[in-house]
Parts: sequence; structure tokens; C-alpha cells
Amino acid sequence: MDRLTLEAVWAILFLSVQDKEAAEMKVLVTGGTNGMGKGVAKVLAGIDDQIHEIIILCRSKERGEATIKEIKADTKNQKISMVLCDLAKLSDVRNVINEIHRQHEYLDGLFINAGLGYAARRVETEDGMDPHFQVNYLSQFMLTLNLLDLLEKSENGGRVIFNVTEGGEIFWDDMQMKKKWGYENGIHQAMVAKRMFYVHLHDLYGKIGDPKVSFLGFQIAQTVWSNQINIIPFFMKAMASVMRFFGTFISIEECGMIMTPLFTEEREASLNRSGKFITWKKGAFIEIAEDKDVLDKAMQEKLWKISLDLCKDDKTTQIAEKYWPD
Ligand SMILES: NC(=O)c1ccc[n+]([C@@H]2O[C@H](COP(=O)([O-])OP(=O)(O)OC[C@H]3O[C@@H](n4cnc5c(N)ncnc54)[C@H](OP(=O)(O)O)[C@@H]3O)[C@@H](O)[C@H]2O)c1
Repeated sequence: MDRLTLEAVWAILFLSVQDKEAAEMKVLVTGGTNGMGKGVAKVLAGIDDQIHEIIILCRSKERGEATIKEIKADTKNQKISMVLCDLAKLSDVRNVINEIHRQHEYLDGLFINAGLGYAARRVETEDGMDPHFQVNYLSQFMLTLNLLDLLEKSENGGRVIFNVTEGGEIFWDDMQMKKKWGYENGIHQAMVAKRMFYVHLHDLYGKIGDPKVSFLGFQIAQTVWSNQINIIPFFMKAMASVMRFFGTFISIEECGMIMTPLFTEEREASLNRSGKFITWKKGAFIEIAEDKDVLDKAMQEKLWKISLDLCKDDKTTQIAEKYWPD
């Protein structure tokens, strides 16, 4: 996108959000130090007279501090903070859940975004799992369930946006990919798991009546020029550079501009989207037809039970039992 178009999008976004009084949103972004997460954090921090508060969940103190400094300088919004958590460690996830509860009485939004992308080989986590499965899915399954109470306290309607893509499958007999590993399969398995999770969560949550939180999946329609470029091997980087020249990629800020309305829209609009898988094309959010496996209730339940077992966390199990006793 050229600079003029970019400025036009900014102007439209700016005018649309200036139309009505924006509600002040407090949003937690996982993986806010780079890529799509950083794009969303930056744009959210800059719009609506900088009223929104952003909390970045990250694994590196240095990268977290550098990101906060950059966003504060770019947007003049001072309400940017971070919490530390390596999503490859379930003990860290438990600690950060406790820390978020100590620091915050409510949350309005949660962006389930952090993800491991390219990897040259499988490096098992200290919890004995495939890293893509644990970082991209399981740890954020646990985080989401444990933050529901704070999201329910939102006066603007809590919402959880999952960064997901189409396709993929669950390798039921080798979920931790010990027998056959491939980073792409790992990424896609985690994507399907996330989609099954929010669809199931939406169904279960709807049953308790008067839902206060919405859960939706968002797929970015164009590839985002993210930190992955610095991680992938040389030949892939060369290919990406050629593709960039032909306009295949969008910037993290453009990604943020596209996604921001999902975090700031009114409660009813967000609740109406709950359970849906959407993308943004030709200036509008549109629904994507979901795979039948993802919608399969037996599979959703199977994954839900496996995930609870793998979390090995009493509090997470209690939350699941409190909301959904069966
Ligand atoms: N780029 C795209 O076009 C695209 C399209 C669709 C979906 N996605 C998905 O979007 C998500 C983000 O991708 P991206 O392209 O924005 O990648 P990215 O630039 O590499 O950003 C990934 C983010 O996740 C964080 N992260 C990775 N491992 C972590 C861990 N163990 N604990 C805590 N945080 C961790 C990274 O932190 P560090 O800064 O510490 O590395 C970084 O902030 C991924 O799930 C990806 O599959 C990307």
C-alpha cells in the first residue's frame, strides 16, 4: 500500500472513530513485541485520543521495554505496560495469570496472537510438548479460561479475538508430533485447535445465559511483513523480498488498522460476531465458512478434555467445572 493510500485509510479510520464517543478499552495483547500483535498494540494506542490502555504479554523484558518505549514515543499514549511470560512454560502462564489478577480488576479485550512460526527443528518444551502446540495454542487456552472473570467485568463487553488461519488438522494420535514433526504442520495444528476452542467456548458460554464476553476468530487476508522475515532461511527471505516488491505483504500497522475495530466496536456488535470466523476484504468484515471437523462437537469436546489434562492446573480445571459442570 503506498503512503497516500495508507494515509487515506488512517483518515477514514480516524473519522469513523471520531463520529461517536469511543469507550475506553483495556486490551491485553499476547506477542505484542513483534508482528501482528505489535501492529494492533500500536494502532490501538494511537487512536481515539489515546484513551485505550494496552498491556503487552511478552517473554523478553528487553523487547517488551523497547516496544513500550517505541509505542509511547509514536503515539504519545502513556498507558502501555507489559507482563512477562514465556508461553512455552506452563509455570510461567500460571504466574502471569496471577500477576494480571493482582494488577488489573478487569479487561475489555484479549488478543490471542503470540505464535511460534518458522522453526528449523522440534525443540520440546520443558512440559514435554511440541512448542507450536504449547505456545500457539495450549498456553493461550489456559490464559483465556483464567482471564474470563476479568473480561466479564468489562463495562464495554469483553471480547477475545483469536489470530487464526484456515485449514490444518489435529494429529490425534501424535499431537505432540514426536513421531513426525514439521513446523508447518505444527503451526496449522495449533490454528485448528484455536478455532475449535473458541467455537466450543462460544457454544458453552452461550448456554450460561446473558453472555458478557464474545469469542471470535480473525484471519488476515494478506500476509503481514512481520518478524518472521528475520527468522526464516535465506532462500525463503529472498522469495519474500521479491513478493514484497509485487505488493504481496502489508505492514504491521496496516494489519493493526484493519483489526482495531474488532477491539473497539460496541458490545452488541461484538457479541453478534461471537463464535464466527471472519476476515476483512474489500473494506468489510466478512464471514469465512468453517471446516466441518472444527464444528464437530465430539471433536471439540475431545480436544477440550485433552487440553485440560495437559494444563495440569487445578484452577483451570475448577474454572471449566464452574462454568460447565458436565
Ligand atoms: N504474518 C502473517 O501474515 C500471519 C498471517 C496469519 C496468521 N499469523 C499468525 O499470527 C501470529 C503472529 O505472527 P507474526 O507473523 O506476527 O509473527 P512474529 O512477528 O514472529 O511475532 C510473534 C510474536 O509472538 C511472540 N512469541 C513467540 N513465542 C513466544 C513465547 N514462547 N512466549 C511469548 N511470546 C512468544 C513473539 O515474541 P518475541 O518478540 O519474543 O519473539 C512475537 O511478539 C502467529 O500465530 C502466526 O502464525 C501471521
